[in-house]
Amino acid sequence: MAMIIDGKALAKSIREDITKEIGTLNYQPTLAVVLVGTDPASATYVSMKEKACLEVGIASQAHRLAADVSQRELMMLITRLNADPAVNGILVQIPLPRQLDQTAIFGAIRRDKDVDGFHPMNVGLLNLGLSGALLPCTPAGVMEMLQSINYRLKGKHVVVVGRSNVVGKPMSTLFLLADATVTICHRYTENLGLYTRQADVLVVAVGKTNLITGDMVKPGAVVIDVGTNRVGSKLVGDVVYEDVKEVAAYITPVPGGVGPMTIAMLLKNTLLAAKMQHA
Ligand code: GUN
Repeated sequence: MAMIIDGKALAKSIREDITKEIGTLNYQPTLAVVLVGTDPASATYVSMKEKACLEVGIASQAHRLAADVSQRELMMLITRLNADPAVNGILVQIPLPRQLDQTAIFGAIRRDKDVDGFHPMNVGLLNLGLSGALLPCTPAGVMEMLQSINYRLKGKHVVVVGRSNVVGKPMSTLFLLADATVTICHRYTENLGLYTRQADVLVVAVGKTNLITGDMVKPGAVVIDVGTNRVGSKLVGDVVYEDVKEVAAYITPVPGGVGPMTIAMLLKNTLLAAKMQHA
């Protein structure tokens, strides 16, 4: 029977530390959140991010743009936010409508305001193992969860399922930097279970319910479920929790696992960005 890594509780304690630190500053960190269109999931995430900011004493400004906004208009907003000394962090919620060039938009955000860690320079610094990068929130949150159970990654075999720029790729890079052996699986991987069964740490970030069953997990493994799938009114992960919890040593629940940690890391990045700008 696996121990639960309680992301909700861990995120709460991180938020308390952030609140305390913000109380010592002589300025209020500010996050600008840009939401394009009316995708209900994105709208929910943006509301959660705004609420989390207010709770720790970060000012949040929402910029809600119509779904048909032009690249030029969005770029003009980014330019304005880049230049505004009152704005410390800029987050453009994805996915974006098709007419918008996501790469160009993330590349236009000032690197030290890029609280998502999506700017090519931040991606590059991370890949080179150099300091000074703002780290993508979900991978950073997963690392904190492993730290919370004092997990030693050196020499361990980590299997990451999913290769997105938001989670899978930066996650794999962080594991490499922590001296783990890393296997990356994705939608074209043949015989997924062959790999996942060898994982000391299994991170699943695909977005497919019931992808990982109990027989695909090594007894005693740490299983981190990054999946967030809506099934009716319920939120479920990519892992068959009830089965896998009987096999794994540690498991993260959905909801209440990685999700709250992602938001806590966004707050941490916003504080870090504000401190860098005031240094
Ligand atoms: N959409 C899904 N995850 C994320 C994230 O981490 N950051 C942003 N900006 N959009 C997202």
